[in-house]
Amino acid sequence: TGSRTPLIAGNWKMHKTIAEAEEFIQALLPRVFSADGIDIGICPPFTSLQAMVDSARGSAVRVYAQNMHHADQGAFTGEVSAAMLSELEVQGTILGHSERRELFGETDKSLALAVPQALEAGLEPILCVGETEAERERGDTERKLRHQIQEGLAKVADDRLADVVIAYEPIWAIGTGLTATPEQAQEACAFVRALVGQRSQEAADRVRILYGGSMKPENAAELLALPDVDGGLVGGASLDPEAFAAIVEAAS
Ligand code: G3P
Repeated sequence: TGSRTPLIAGNWKMHKTIAEAEEFIQALLPRVFSADGIDIGICPPFTSLQAMVDSARGSAVRVYAQNMHHADQGAFTGEVSAAMLSELEVQGTILGHSERRELFGETDKSLALAVPQALEAGLEPILCVGETEAERERGDTERKLRHQIQEGLAKVADDRLADVVIAYEPIWAIGTGLTATPEQAQEACAFVRALVGQRSQEAADRVRILYGGSMKPENAAELLALPDVDGGLVGGASLDPEAFAAIVEAAS
């Protein structure tokens, strides 16, 4: 990880009402009070963003959205813009989670617009990439990652590349309890870093690459110790303040 500050971010997906989110943050804050040299993020549903920004103010915990539309504004029922998020003072947003791609038709083309749109609004994008089980079995993992990284970052200037966080989430490891082996995680994250390096070596050295997919307290330390893994994007285990704090602890 070197000079890169680790980031542990919890993606709550469609979980927690405002009341439940408040209960979580009040339990989490004392547990991560002394966390040092590590960035901590939570990604609640849109409805809890304001409450979590207010409750986390002054702490080490930053708040991220789970998604954002790339347009400035317009007739896009159900969508939320970069300006709307930055007005809430969130730190950033997840973009291109595999669930958004699979279930809601998000494409590399729309992500190519969303990533720079987020950066211009002062938001830190967490761009998700990853292969399906079939793609891995066919030996298409690198091809898939290359395509997603090249397209997703195509409209980001070289000197902004390191401001993007990239999350490598093998789809077969998401919510399945199946974690990538340390070898698989390291290999894929190193490959992603090399792809960024084809644009700018300086950016490749600075860009943070997270692993996501059934990360939990029991396997976090091993994954987070890998040279090209700079943190985690945690789903299920981030819903419990104790488990999430244990993963933060493993990164410190
Ligand atoms: O974005 C995080 C995620 O997709 C991983 O989910 O539940 O496998 O940790 P989970």
